[in-house]
Amino acid sequence: MLDYFFGLLSHDVGIDLGTANTLVYVKGKGILIREPSVVARHARTKQILAIGTEAKKMLGRSPATIEVVRPLKDGVIADFDATEAMLKHYILQVHESNKLIPKIPKPRVVVGIPSGVTEVEQRAVSEAALAAGARQCFLIEEPMAAAIGVGLPIDGSGGIMVVDIGGGTTEMAVISLGGVVVNKSIRVAGDEMDETIIHFMRLKYNILLGERTAEEIKIALGNAHPKAFETQKFMVIRGRDIESGLPKSIKITSDEVREALIPVLRQITEAVADLVEETPPELVSDILERGLVMCGGGSMIAGIDKLMQEETRMPVYVAEDPMTAVVRGCGRVLDDPKLLNRVRVVGG
Ligand SMILES: Nc1ncnc2c1ncn2[C@@H]1O[C@H](COP(=O)(O)OP(=O)(O)OP(=O)(O)O)[C@@H](O)[C@H]1O
Ligand SMILES: [Mg+2]
Repeated sequence: MLDYFFGLLSHDVGIDLGTANTLVYVKGKGILIREPSVVARHARTKQILAIGTEAKKMLGRSPATIEVVRPLKDGVIADFDATEAMLKHYILQVHESNKLIPKIPKPRVVVGIPSGVTEVEQRAVSEAALAAGARQCFLIEEPMAAAIGVGLPIDGSGGIMVVDIGGGTTEMAVISLGGVVVNKSIRVAGDEMDETIIHFMRLKYNILLGERTAEEIKIALGNAHPKAFETQKFMVIRGRDIESGLPKSIKITSDEVREALIPVLRQITEAVADLVEETPPELVSDILERGLVMCGGGSMIAGIDKLMQEETRMPVYVAEDPMTAVVRGCGRVLDDPKLLNRVRVVGG
C-alpha cells in the first residue's frame, strides 16, 4: 500500500554511478542527467559547494579551503558521504516540477555496479542510494545492463560478449541465457589512459600536465591504430616545464598520443583475449559470428575497434551512443518486471 502511494509520488530511476560520469534515467522521460561524478565541498565544514560539471571545473584549481573529490574510484565508492550527496542531489533534481503539489522523492532505483565488486562494496552502493532517499534499490551488474541497453538478445542461448571501457574500470562479460557465464573486470580504463599521457609527455618533453589537459588530449588526439585518422592530427598543449618550473607550450601529434596509449590499450585487449580463452567453445563460436560489442567512454578512442579486432581476431562493434549503454539498460530493467526479477535486490 505504502509502496503504491510512493509510486504515485516519485519517478523510478535508473542510475549509472560511474567513476567518471553519473547518468540518471527517469522512467517515461529518458536520460535527464549526465554529469561528471565530481563533488566540491568546504574542506572543514564539508558543506557541499558544487556537484557535477561545476565541480569538475574546480578540479586542480581549488584553494585549500575547498576540496574537490571524485566520490568513486575504480568503479567503487571511495567517499561515501560525497556519493550520497551526489545521489540525493540528482534524485531531488529529477523530481523538481512546477506543479502545486511537490513530489516527495522516494523512488525505486536500479543502479549498475561493476561485476567484480565485493559484498561490502555492493552494500555501500545500496546504502548510499537508500540514504539519498530511494525506497528500494536494485543492483545490476554493469556488463548485463550494458548488453540490455544496447539491445542485445541476453535471453537467447547464443553467447554475446560486451566490453565496457569506462573511466575507472574495464568490464567484460560473456552472457548467455540471461546470465553472465564468464566475466572479468580490470582497473585499467580511461583514467589510466590520462595518466599514461601525463607520464609520456613528462618523459619526452619535460612537461608537467594536469589531469584535465591529459583528458582533453586523449579525446582530441587519442587513437589506437595507425589507420584511425586519415591524416595526422596536431594540438598545442600547455603545461609547466619540469626544470625551470615555468609555463611552456608544445605541439604534439596524434601518432605520439597513440604511442603513449598503446601499452594501456594492450592491457585491455589482452584481458579480453584471456576472457575469450576462458569462454566455453560453443559460446566462442557464437561471438565469432556475432562479434564483440564495445561501450563506455573509452570505446570512443578512434580505431580501438580495429586494434581489438586485430588482437582478438573477432569482429568488433562499438555500440551507438556508447556512454549511455549502462543507464539505458538500467532504465529498461525498470520498465520490464521480468528483467527486474532477475537482478539482485539489495537493501530493499
Ligand atoms: N571521445 C572520447 N575518446 C576517448 N575517451 C573518451 C571520450 N569521451 C570520453 N572519454 C573517456 O571515457 C571515460 C568515461 O567513460 P564512462 O562515462 O563510460 O565511464 P564511467 O562509467 O563513469 O566509469 P566506470 O564505468 O569505470 O565506473 C573517461 O575516462 C573519459 O575521459
Ligand atoms: Mg561505466
